[in-house]
Amino acid sequence: MTPLNLKLSEARTLVDKLFDDELKIPEGREKRVIEAMRYSAIGSGKAFRPFLVLTVAKMLDVPQEQAARVAVALEMVHTYSLIHDDLPAMDNDTLRRGKPTNHVQFDEATAILTGDALLTQAFEVLANEKTHPDATVRIKLIEALSKAAGTRGMIGGQMMDLLGEKEPLTLKEVERMQSMKTGALLEFACTAPAILIGASDEIMQALKAYAHAMGLMFQITDDILDVEGDSATVGKTLGKDSKAHKSTFVSLLGLEEARQLARDLGMEAKAALKIFDDKADMLNHTTSFILSRNK
Ligand code: IPE
Ligand code: IPE
Ligand code: MG
Ligand code: MG
Ligand code: MG
Repeated sequence: MTPLNLKLSEARTLVDKLFDDELKIPEGREKRVIEAMRYSAIGSGKAFRPFLVLTVAKMLDVPQEQAARVAVALEMVHTYSLIHDDLPAMDNDTLRRGKPTNHVQFDEATAILTGDALLTQAFEVLANEKTHPDATVRIKLIEALSKAAGTRGMIGGQMMDLLGEKEPLTLKEVERMQSMKTGALLEFACTAPAILIGASDEIMQALKAYAHAMGLMFQITDDILDVEGDSATVGKTLGKDSKAHKSTFVSLLGLEEARQLARDLGMEAKAALKIFDDKADMLNHTTSFILSRNK
């Protein structure tokens, strides 16, 4: 196992432990929704966003307990976004993280509630004083995650993605869409540890620049995997983007140019990390991991 894969699996284990604490199954009939939350959130998925939060936190000397709570809140929002993304009214997918999608396993209404519940609970986690003793810092985290998940971030990007099925987007529009739908949450992953310690503007800007390039790379490789991945490894049904006539980097540029763009963005991401010297080694490796990922 490479050092990065080891860190991903450590992040998975750590957030699973917190998910287990946060998502206790109650006695009443509402337990179905908590079971559905646990089904999608625990034990599967790469834990890439928690890995980023924990890695940047380590680089900036943020206490791990605080970082882990931010990581779990972010993974809740990410998991909700996937459950809703898979719904029949959206991408209509039946396979996610190697298992039937939430609405297939449970039912559509439960899947909608499951997503809603994960989104809501993420902010409960951030608002708790265990996340940070200073309420001002907690409010900053809540503000940043709300922005990243909302119309200026993930939701805005998802809206553009759906509209792109009907009318082709330009390259500029695809770039904006991808940096909103995927990049915004990845930017939160990289900058939340800086919020936790009230880091300087210089550090914040460097992390934002890194996250911007790395986030685009991540979505480009997602689009490439949709074309040439192996469904059993990726854990999703592939070939869905072209079937739904989605505008992606791959549909506009072709595979080779999309791959080249991902490599160029990898260089850009690494350049943004210069101020951290060798403390940023793991984040530097992340770009190679993204370029060669098969899931
Ligand atoms: C998939 O994200 C959706 C995108 C934003 C590209 P991931 O590839 O991180 O999915 P999981 O969390 O490992 O399932
Ligand atoms: C979804 O993008 C990104 C989200 C915000 C959920 P995709 O629709 O490409 O994600 P996959 O390929 O289904 O994971
Ligand atoms: Mg989608
Ligand atoms: Mg999808
Ligand atoms: Mg995709």
